[in-house]
Amino acid sequence: MSNPSSTVSLAVAILIAATSPAIAGDGAPPTPVTFSAEQDHQNMMNQLGIKALRPGPSGDEKAPNHANYDESLASPFANLPDPLTMDDGRKVVTAEMWTKERRPELIEAFSRYVYGRVPAVVPRVTWAVDAVDHEMIGFTPVIAKDLIGEVDNSGCPSIRVRIHMTLVTPANAKGPVPVLMMFGRAGFPAPREPSAEEFERINAAWKALLVQQDPTLKEVFATHPTWQPVKGTPFQFPQMNEDGDLPNTWQLVSAGWGFVLFDPASVQADDGAGITRGIIGLANRGQPRHPEDWGALRAWAWGASRGLDYLVNDPAVEAKHVGIEGVSRYGKAALVTMAFDQRFAMVLVGSSGKGGATLLRRNFGEAVESLTGGGYYWMAGNFMKYGASDATFGSMTPRDLTVDSNELIALCAPRLTFISYGIPEKGDAKWLDHRGSFMATVDAGRVFTLLGAKGLDIKGDYQTAKMPPVNEGHLGGELAWRQHDGGHTDAPNMKWFLQWANKFLARFP
Ligand code: GCU
Repeated sequence: MSNPSSTVSLAVAILIAATSPAIAGDGAPPTPVTFSAEQDHQNMMNQLGIKALRPGPSGDEKAPNHANYDESLASPFANLPDPLTMDDGRKVVTAEMWTKERRPELIEAFSRYVYGRVPAVVPRVTWAVDAVDHEMIGFTPVIAKDLIGEVDNSGCPSIRVRIHMTLVTPANAKGPVPVLMMFGRAGFPAPREPSAEEFERINAAWKALLVQQDPTLKEVFATHPTWQPVKGTPFQFPQMNEDGDLPNTWQLVSAGWGFVLFDPASVQADDGAGITRGIIGLANRGQPRHPEDWGALRAWAWGASRGLDYLVNDPAVEAKHVGIEGVSRYGKAALVTMAFDQRFAMVLVGSSGKGGATLLRRNFGEAVESLTGGGYYWMAGNFMKYGASDATFGSMTPRDLTVDSNELIALCAPRLTFISYGIPEKGDAKWLDHRGSFMATVDAGRVFTLLGAKGLDIKGDYQTAKMPPVNEGHLGGELAWRQHDGGHTDAPNMKWFLQWANKFLARFP
């Protein structure tokens, strides 16, 4: 039998090992922890003293535990936090008070409780152009630069983070252009193929090589003189958007804009098991997160900001007119990017749902409990508390959140902020809570107004304002709303976004 005191000291030793970096005795760099997502989730629950979480609802409407879609049950909490009231109760009545006092207070609350903090020291990023290609996007000649942002990993050499993005700008631009950074896959969008003359040389060399290998092929080639082993890709019509418009990238360059394809996975994996790797892992030297540390959304946003560090120094880019875009989880990331980094001039937030534009305390579709379960690693560890049913601190619900998405949208003010959705009939699921996002957008408008910009031109407050019909854009102000009649994409809103943004940037291409 073990004696009680040695059991206690063993427990203490395990606790210390679990919370401090595992630095090998010889001063060698730490070995990153390898956890499954379940182990990491449990580790965070232990750190927070949570014994049980309420399970998230099912997205399957036929399941007995399906999400609520009854509007009369959607607002159990009346206390929507007010972006224009300081935590100490003072009203925010001037732009200066917003900027100097309320904005920092909200940034702090979203960092501490919702998305997590970027560590005080994050390793440096060094950008390098990997390759340049002259391509055609539709009928527009472009210059595409593939870029790698190598993150200094001297603190933990076994974790390598190479941020990947591709910058594409119209080749014939007369000066720097506005650029929309889009979360998704990076890489050359339309790699340029060899010319006809180059293909001829390639084929001659190729045939010579084959004949060297098998001299009898000489006769075969002589019999079929026009046949070529290597051929160019035949012209392909682009995949049109659901509304029959050209792809986003085609629309952007033909409007005289540039774009960036930014790969979030190159910053941080979209997976709880990856949280001790990627930039979060590197900054933590491979150790699990503490409750206030950043989650994947904040890490993706941080990566986009590092991308912007590069862009502001590229002469092809109009540094003051760089926007950020994303759909679904990347719609959340785009909104977080815009809210935290005021250098971004505009955002197109596509179908972002919970953790994005919709109200966290609305009980409609996806729930806070979904984000404390499967989506936990998108958020700060601390966020898990709001899904706890049994913990050392008792239990908490979304009512206990001191902030909500109306305030996240407000943090984008007075810059250009376009909230976009599709329709459930085409696959933009009810799960995303379009109405809750509309309510948050309406309420955020008050902060745009305070700062001399415009919110939605719709009567009423967030509870009484009527949701506009599908395809009716509210694009008159710096804060805009449009629900298109397509699915889980923002593509049908791209042409509206461009018209709207061009008007505010006073660009008439
Ligand atoms: C799920 C998840 C959402 C997320 C979406 C996505 O529906 O619940 O929060 O936005 O996946 O595809 O990113």
